Amino acid sequence: MNTLVLGSGGREHALAWKIAESPLNTNLFIAPGNAGTRNVGVNIPADLDNFESIGCIAIENEIDLVVVGPEAPLVEGIHDYFLSREELKNIPVIGPVKKGAMLEGSKDFAKAFMQKYNIPTAASRTFAKENFEEGLLYLETLNAPYVLKADGLAAGKGVLILNNLEEAKQELSEMLNDSKFGEASSKVVIEEFLDGIELSVFALADGIHYKLLPKAKDYKRIGEGNTGLNTGGMGSISPVPFVNSEFLTKIEKNIVKPTVEGLKKEGIDYRGFIFFGLIKVGNDPYVIEYNCRMGDPEAESVIPRIKGDLLELFVAVGNQTLDKVEIKFDERNAATVMMVAGGYPEKYQKGNFITIPDNLSDCIVFHSGTTIDVETGHIKTSGGRVIAVTSYGRNMKEALENAYKNVDLIDFKNKYFRKDLGFDLM
Ligand code: AMP
Ligand code: GLY
Repeated sequence: MNTLVLGSGGREHALAWKIAESPLNTNLFIAPGNAGTRNVGVNIPADLDNFESIGCIAIENEIDLVVVGPEAPLVEGIHDYFLSREELKNIPVIGPVKKGAMLEGSKDFAKAFMQKYNIPTAASRTFAKENFEEGLLYLETLNAPYVLKADGLAAGKGVLILNNLEEAKQELSEMLNDSKFGEASSKVVIEEFLDGIELSVFALADGIHYKLLPKAKDYKRIGEGNTGLNTGGMGSISPVPFVNSEFLTKIEKNIVKPTVEGLKKEGIDYRGFIFFGLIKVGNDPYVIEYNCRMGDPEAESVIPRIKGDLLELFVAVGNQTLDKVEIKFDERNAATVMMVAGGYPEKYQKGNFITIPDNLSDCIVFHSGTTIDVETGHIKTSGGRVIAVTSYGRNMKEALENAYKNVDLIDFKNKYFRKDLGFDLM
């Protein structure tokens, strides 16, 4: 089979790495990919906003299956585009149609969906410019901290958590009246603050059935002890030690099943990953957010724990036969440490050369923000999150130790990584 993976981060490298080892794999293309995906397939320069050009790439390379890594093309309707074109409509796309991607593309849609299907989540209301005053009154009924969420995609920056009521009112005004996050904050969800520990649960769905994937936990803050600014993710571990079978049963019964059933009832043929961003409050799981794709850097520790053939699972998604395939997980723990450019998630340098020595051991190196320098052929940095190093271990501690051993050997100017991953779970 010929497969096209869309995207350029560590998640896409992990997907491509796993697809490359499938017995079904003939040719693997990654568009646009990064310096690491070249080692497992062929990179094709591409603009993911330009669906027509992606369609051309699929036809020219006789693609049999497309895997969409990031959310933006899904929210913009790339799957629907393929379905609308005679010559593309029979190519299975892993990633939901636009209506399904709304679970991530509109927080208001996601909240209304959860309320309708009784899926546990923080109490909330949505406000627009027209009822801004009501929003101020609603804030007064809540206790600090106040959670304000831009309705639309805001590159991971659209959620504000404020300790002070006046500040929350000010921010609400900036979001609604001054378009703080552009069109994304034309509506704002205000919700109750939930206090607990977060985890990420993933399912692969085919429109009828689903399979749960390994659970993971990511570390979002830049600073040790979970302090400082939010990032795309500074590392992840899988499995999650505090998820026992009783808690997992609650997740499946109260959240995963009603979500998949709800999508069906809404007439949404959801084929792709469902990412449940959960929080454990007391002994119960609540949904913080849905995403319509794999997490990054969760993918880098989850995908290496899937045993067997990922491409076979994707084919089953296309055929709606996920119930017929078995999925097994590696019993070992996996840990991913993200190496980032100093300064990230604020201003940082790009274009610094990266040294990856040959003597790395017990690890998988997934590239995130890397590219090839055309003049020298060297690998250099091209993004804030640069390299994700994943290792296995008999337990989380050992997996992390193995990853850190290798992180110390990889070098680029101003490299930074969190040295305390897993600290809250030891
Ligand atoms: P989101 O983009 O919705 O995942 O929100 C980003 C982060 O904000 C989450 O990962 C949580 O850490 C935090 N957050 C969002 N909603 C809430 C909430 N209702 N209560 C507590 N923390 C939240
Ligand atoms: N790691 C969180 C995300 O991918 O959104």
